[in-house]
Amino acid sequence: SDDKKPVNDRLMAICKLLENSVSYYNWVGFYFRNGDKEELVLGPYVGAPTDHTVIPFGKGICGQVAVSNQNFVVPDVSAQDNYIACSITVKAEIVVPIFVNGNNIGQIDIDSNTPDPFTEDDERFLEFVCAQVATLL
Ligand code: SME
Repeated sequence: SDDKKPVNDRLMAICKLLENSVSYYNWVGFYFRNGDKEELVLGPYVGAPTDHTVIPFGKGICGQVAVSNQNFVVPDVSAQDNYIACSITVKAEIVVPIFVNGNNIGQIDIDSNTPDPFTEDDERFLEFVCAQVATLL
């Protein structure tokens, strides 16, 4: 039944839907906190494979969101000094945290090949997506 469908299948479906639906969403993935460790581990994603399957807290845009508990919108990745490049085609990035019972347990990470594409509408939409994801976890 639907409620037995593995969580990762559902997360992958969300990645595919987002990447297929929004022209400037070119890499869409989830990172999750690794238990009690201060590191993120890559979950389901669509887009170019990345070497960065484990990211320490504080490192890169993703690692900073793990610490700040805030959305991070990057209009121009080349202007960031604490940034982990996954692909030379990426121009911009947005990371939105996922909260379960008030705890930051992971995030959605979206890369764009378009410069400065993300608006507050993307933030509100992705906050909604993350709230839905939280109910699956
Ligand atoms: N750019 C991210 C790393 C993850 S890749 O975008 C898939 C960062 O700086 O944390």
